[in-house]
Amino acid sequence: MGAFLELKEVHKAYFLHGKRIDVLRGVSLDIEKGELVSLVGASGSGKSTFLHVVGTLDAPAAGTMRYQGRSVFDMNDAELAEYRNRTIGFVFQSHYLLPEFTAAENVAMPALIQRQDRVMSLRRAKELLERVGLGARVEHRPGELSGGESQRVALARALMLAPSLLLADEPTGNLDPTTGEGIHQLLREVNRDLGLTAVVVTHNEVLAQSMPRRLRLLDGRVQAA
Ligand SMILES: Nc1ncnc2c1ncn2[C@@H]1O[C@H](COP(=O)(O)OP(=O)(O)O)[C@@H](O)[C@H]1O
Ligand SMILES: [Mg+2]
Repeated sequence: MGAFLELKEVHKAYFLHGKRIDVLRGVSLDIEKGELVSLVGASGSGKSTFLHVVGTLDAPAAGTMRYQGRSVFDMNDAELAEYRNRTIGFVFQSHYLLPEFTAAENVAMPALIQRQDRVMSLRRAKELLERVGLGARVEHRPGELSGGESQRVALARALMLAPSLLLADEPTGNLDPTTGEGIHQLLREVNRDLGLTAVVVTHNEVLAQSMPRRLRLLDGRVQAA
């Protein structure tokens, strides 16, 4: 078996108003289980596109991706949905928490949507909130949380279904540097303690440098940074 995640010659273009924008132009990359990887690149270089393709939110035009030896882009819709639910946790720049629900309910939401047991799900959600340092904010609604706290809740929610691959798209983009460093510290802890593989897109070169493996998107390709 090859790497945990193996991309070969992945291409992705967008078509807008009759114009073709080649964003990913042959991305090849191996990621091993448990790796913590930062990805930097100029605005518009295709970082989000890359995460969407890896997270199967978007289909590539060409190329292959293998997850633990399985060809992901050859999966049918049901297999893809299963792969996404079981494997991938997403954290975005905006937290997208639901304002009318508490922090614990927001974290539990992925399990509740899957009709898992409510009491058990909320118990796990509280444990995850403790894990991200928010044991005292379990009953707060998003409007009663700071930006950094909201992003911690979003991270806990991404961990709810125990993903093996965490994809974070500028998770600290809306935060001040100190709060952002706290989130990166947390990502390092989660990577270490849960053995979670993670790819973290960031604009912050200092935070990017603090990751064990560093990548850069340049001219549609991924290279060591
Ligand atoms: N849905 C879309 N339709 C057309 N063009 C898009 C779309 N999404 C992104 N793009 C273009 O693709 C390029 C890469 O975008 P993106 O992956 O969001 O970059 P980054 O995250 O590195 O800032 C940009 O030039 C952007 O304008
Ligand atoms: Mg982006």
